[in-house]
Amino acid sequence: MTAQLIDGNALARRIRSEVTGRTEALKARGIQPALSIILVGSDPASQVYTRHKVNDSTETGLKATLETYPADLTEAALLDRIHTLNADPKVHGILVQLPLPRHMDASKVIETISPAKDVDGFHVASAGALVTGQPGFWPCTPYGCMKMLESIGFDLRGKHAVVIGRSNIVGKPMALMLLQKNATVTICHSATRDLKAHTLQADVVVAAVGKRNVLTADMVKPGAVVIDVGMNRNDEGKLCGDVDFEGVRQVAGWITPVPGGVGPMTRAMLLVNTLEAAERAAR
Ligand code: GUN
Repeated sequence: MTAQLIDGNALARRIRSEVTGRTEALKARGIQPALSIILVGSDPASQVYTRHKVNDSTETGLKATLETYPADLTEAALLDRIHTLNADPKVHGILVQLPLPRHMDASKVIETISPAKDVDGFHVASAGALVTGQPGFWPCTPYGCMKMLESIGFDLRGKHAVVIGRSNIVGKPMALMLLQKNATVTICHSATRDLKAHTLQADVVVAAVGKRNVLTADMVKPGAVVIDVGMNRNDEGKLCGDVDFEGVRQVAGWITPVPGGVGPMTRAMLLVNTLEAAERAAR
């Protein structure tokens, strides 16, 4: 039996349509939810990502403004601009596209964003809120993965979840979100001995390493849910994830494809966070 697909495109479409409805409700109260995106430099991938973010926003009725600056912008000038946006009541979300040029301290830049407008969920205050279960913004990628699990009605309580990868943006927050839903969580990483021994125990595996074929069929318990956060290119230049999709789908119960899985969900959750920021500001 082959795994059922968790269709990220379809779920993201549903979420965008909910966002559109909630945006209209805010607009009816005279509030235009607004996201400010800052891009420094001309990294081609960042240009594509930020364009997508603007288009997604526009499509759902959110107002997104993209500010682009040359790569030699000073850090002080960037921090100044963030302070101005923090103080602007018409701006609900602020997103500084990463990576930043090397002369800038990305942590310092992110910590300058008001936590109330941190729709990326990268601020230490957002991370702290997630750790302690307080309201705050969740990073979009793991948040999208949780929505995918919810969409198939998967009850995490008492289940064993294995997260492969420990980045601040995906692996660590993913583990905390799974824990909050009462899963027993293992985080595996580059120093983990015998990864397969862990993944074979897992009811849910989230692969977030950024390397092809991190998870193969022999490493998966029959029927497990497999979420693939990876975005890599194979030898033919085609987009692929961290999971050996064709092999693993023969064993897993559910699997997310790449493309069309986690990617569109990450984009959708940014809209949710921005809308949520606007709704909180209006309370
Ligand atoms: N660069 C790649 N992905 C992201 C993201 O989700 N947010 C920001 N700010 N930069 C990124």
